[in-house]
Amino acid sequence: MPTRITMIAALFAALTMLAASATQAAGADEAQKLYTRSVAATCANCHGTDGRAQDDATVPGLVGLSADHIVTQMDAFRKGERSATIMHQIAKGFSEEQTRQLADYFASQQP
Ligand code: HEC
Repeated sequence: MPTRITMIAALFAALTMLAASATQAAGADEAQKLYTRSVAATCANCHGTDGRAQDDATVPGLVGLSADHIVTQMDAFRKGERSATIMHQIAKGFSEEQTRQLADYFASQQP
């Protein structure tokens, strides 16, 4: 029969493990967000910081577009179904998963 102390110790150990795995999950989530942001920063030269184009910009911003629209356009650029001056080359540099993450990122930005 376990003593009260042993049971408290076991409970404490279980709680510590739970807390550790929660912290790890949050860490991975944060790392993923940071990664997506840094990839999104490569779009900023032309589409503006966080996809917000300047008023006089010739390249359209990405903020305000739906994630599905961005994914569809990137696919069309990649496959050559939409003619482009530059995006057909850029789109080829990203996997479908990265494209989806980028699209979700820009779609989550407030205009
Ligand atoms: C060198 C400049 C440049 C960079 C960098 C760039 N784009 Fe573009 N983007 C353009 C131009 C120019 C267009 C218009 C189509 C064309 O001529 O290629 C465009 C169009 C688009 C469109 C279509 C918008 C619409 O509503 O039809 C999407 C989506 C897009 N870009 C996403 C991205 C993403 C995501 C990145 C970063 C991974 C990126 N672009 C990086 C220049 C750029």
